[in-house]
Amino acid sequence: MFHDNVILAIDQGTTSTRALAFDEQGQVRASAHVELAQIYPRDGWVEQDPDDIWRDTLTVWRQALEQSGAVQLAAIGLTNQRETTLVWDRRTGRAVYNAISWQDRRGAGRCQALAEEGYEGLIQVRTGLLLDSYFSATKVAWILENVEGARAAAQAGHLAFGTIDSFLLWRLTGGKVHATDATNASRTMLFNIHSQRWDSELLELFGVPLAMMPEVRDSACLFGHTDPVLYGRPVPIGGMAGDQQAALIGQACFRNGMVKSTYGTGCFVLANTGETPVSSTHRLITTIGYRIKGQPTYALEGSIFNAGSAVQWLRDRLGVIESARTTEYLASGLRSNHGVYFVPAFTGLGAPYWDPQARGALFGLTRDTGVAELARAALESVCYQTLDLIEAMGGDGVSRPRVVRADGGMARNEWMLKFLADILEVSVERPTQIETTAVGAAVLAALTVGLFPSLEAAAAWWRLDARFDPSMNPDYRARLCQGWHKAVGRTRESG
Ligand code: G3P
Repeated sequence: MFHDNVILAIDQGTTSTRALAFDEQGQVRASAHVELAQIYPRDGWVEQDPDDIWRDTLTVWRQALEQSGAVQLAAIGLTNQRETTLVWDRRTGRAVYNAISWQDRRGAGRCQALAEEGYEGLIQVRTGLLLDSYFSATKVAWILENVEGARAAAQAGHLAFGTIDSFLLWRLTGGKVHATDATNASRTMLFNIHSQRWDSELLELFGVPLAMMPEVRDSACLFGHTDPVLYGRPVPIGGMAGDQQAALIGQACFRNGMVKSTYGTGCFVLANTGETPVSSTHRLITTIGYRIKGQPTYALEGSIFNAGSAVQWLRDRLGVIESARTTEYLASGLRSNHGVYFVPAFTGLGAPYWDPQARGALFGLTRDTGVAELARAALESVCYQTLDLIEAMGGDGVSRPRVVRADGGMARNEWMLKFLADILEVSVERPTQIETTAVGAAVLAALTVGLFPSLEAAAAWWRLDARFDPSMNPDYRARLCQGWHKAVGRTRESG
């Protein structure tokens, strides 16, 4: 049935939009990507242009499909940067404000005020999240409060809210479908992850009318068909999931206790906890891993805001490295980190610290410190932050995994994966396809159109590329970890 057909995964990420065309064996036949510009109107504010997002989506779709040489496009799966918030007018399809990025901290004051009023517990119990401006609630509230006429239009039922998946679905279906999937809904701070419904009390707390909210569906289902003007005929959109959840699927982490760690702009570690939501006492997030046939599978998540962005900063702001790739060579040329630690808290610290005031810092610089030490410290910081998350998961009763499956652009860096295995004291596996977010979106769409009998059957698409086993001397490891924790402590004091 799928001979010469492809499934197209569209991965709308923070810094780029990608499309990958998969054949029925899960092999990538073609791919295309376009960088997405970020807009920084003020300190701590991060936005994106919705029209750029839409235009880029169509560009990568067409490019990937053309290159794939496929006869037919069987289905589309969507995956996306999560939490990023859009509000658009249903009458025109136009966004009333830029997309407010997940990295944007403008809601921090509001969160602080709500915490002082004692709302943290309620929010954690209902949504599985921590009261933080990372999630969509304060972003949509800000738009309704600050964009002229928005509140009245919302109350009249003219405005629609959506995360990127929902916005793209609306546009792709020519304004016919306003829906999201349970994984994306679980990132809004407005969704009750137990009842699987929008929470009326939380909607009221943030002043968001229910009429604005998309319908919440399973991650794999027929969301709708694309407008025929886009491809000449309607194409089924069969899967949607937030990018980190899509990576959990792409990494075939279908069993309770399996863990994946994705290294993009940030780093996101998700542990599958099965049908039971694990409530964190260590400042992690309880989230929906995927929802199939109405049954949610939960995950415990640790989110680090800055991982690849630390290397990007060395490249783009300091201009000391030519490309991210050179960090591998630079780091491996040193026998130790020479006492240099880099805490890349550019936008505050995420889990398990959740400190929006912390800012980045470099420690231990001497006259001998050079580019290699900086590069190595940036890579090491990503590994120490992952350790912080794995330890927090342990504290929440999730047993230490035997293996962590790593992916994302930084997973190309073998020096980093070996160091990661050493610091975590667990084996790290890298699959042949490190764009696992796209794999996950394609798997969901493939499930809907009948290529797989069950989600678990999609494990056939996962193939091991390399495995990294720990071998570091335990005392040396302990000293390194101590150095990191001291550096993090100092960052927070000076924030
Ligand atoms: O929660 C934010 C996350 O979904 C963004 O992922 O890969 O676009 O940095 P990425």
